[in-house]
Amino acid sequence: MTVRDYFYTWNAQAAVEGSELAFGEGAELVMRDGTRWLDMGSLSYQASLGQGHASMRGAIAAQTNRLCLAPPNADFAAKSDLAAKLLSLAPEGYSKVFFTLGGAEANENAMKIARLVTGRIKFLSRYRSYHGATLGALALTGDYRRPPLEPAVPGVVHILGDDPGVLEATMVLEGPGSIAAVFMEPIPGANGVIIPRKDYWPRMRAACDAHETLLVADEVLTGFGRTGRCFGFEHEGVVPDMITVAKALTAGYAPLGAVLVHERVAQHFEHEVLYAGLTNYAHPIGCAAALAALTVYEEEGLYARAAQLESTLQGGLEDICKAHPAVASRVRGRGLLAAIDISGDQSFWERLLPRLAAQRVLLHISERRGTAILAPALNMSEQQMSDGLGRIASAITEATVGG
Ligand SMILES: Cc1ncc(COP(=O)(O)O)c(C=O)c1O
Repeated sequence: MTVRDYFYTWNAQAAVEGSELAFGEGAELVMRDGTRWLDMGSLSYQASLGQGHASMRGAIAAQTNRLCLAPPNADFAAKSDLAAKLLSLAPEGYSKVFFTLGGAEANENAMKIARLVTGRIKFLSRYRSYHGATLGALALTGDYRRPPLEPAVPGVVHILGDDPGVLEATMVLEGPGSIAAVFMEPIPGANGVIIPRKDYWPRMRAACDAHETLLVADEVLTGFGRTGRCFGFEHEGVVPDMITVAKALTAGYAPLGAVLVHERVAQHFEHEVLYAGLTNYAHPIGCAAALAALTVYEEEGLYARAAQLESTLQGGLEDICKAHPAVASRVRGRGLLAAIDISGDQSFWERLLPRLAAQRVLLHISERRGTAILAPALNMSEQQMSDGLGRIASAITEATVGG
């Protein structure tokens, strides 16, 4: 095994076997050894247009010819056009955009904005959540990645389960008037694709209104068509006070995130200082990539396409569950985000993971959580999608039979 001079993320280094990428083509990754892998997970959920999209490459190249660098407070076309575009996609009343380099920083800055606006320090989020790896975003995160770093940022209260009554009660128990903001993924994604009860978001919105608490929708994973609409919260009939985005914002072609801010929050900073900033605030290349991605999503009708292909994706997973009821169950999802539960003993998992690798298929599969999550590129062909589902089905069959 080659020893690298850089860290691999989220792992003990000795446990990682790297994979040498040669190039990418659409939804396929080609390794240096010539093997082609079909990506059914959009890398880390950001690659909504796959690799090498001509419009993306063209827009980034054009921006490098025009303006590569800019100071944080400069005005330039890609920045103002992108802000206007994002506000046009947000609900009515949204008036400002704060740019970041990724999703964690978007949540981090939304936390700061919420504290500055409300004068309160507490936040509420779910145990079944991931909000990013910086200390503030990690404090919001409920899953196994937070405890090793504690104490992270004080003041975050986590709630368990998907009963809105628990959220309402917790807000009261924590002291009405003490919580600056509730942070919520419209569909907790990496933690298992948990579709909210119909009354969850309306009751959460009402509870936030009752306590003058801000509601932040973390759309880092769900934003820009993943669920079949531009934003995941659009399925819930509720308007949040801030929206955090990253990942598919640029389809992963450049690092960029953002906080979209409703006028009722943004107006606070007309005469109060916004204590927040970044050297690479609204980086020109990131802005150009985002503008291009948002244009491609629209031109290629990809939000509607994700909604149309929901049944194809879930149908493939239903077939797997029917064929293997002992190990695969509970299909759920929205748009081109879907999951099943996988249950098996350790030896089953030890057979399954190499079988998936032998099928050269990538997805988000976790023994710890017992889930397999699929999030194919929004422009993946139906044939490739069914090929990917077939490969996953074959791997599960082989791992089951192999027992
Ligand atoms: C819902 C959600 N929020 C925030 C983040 C963090 O984004 P980033 O890795 O760009 O910092 C992620 C990343 O997986 C995410 O899924």
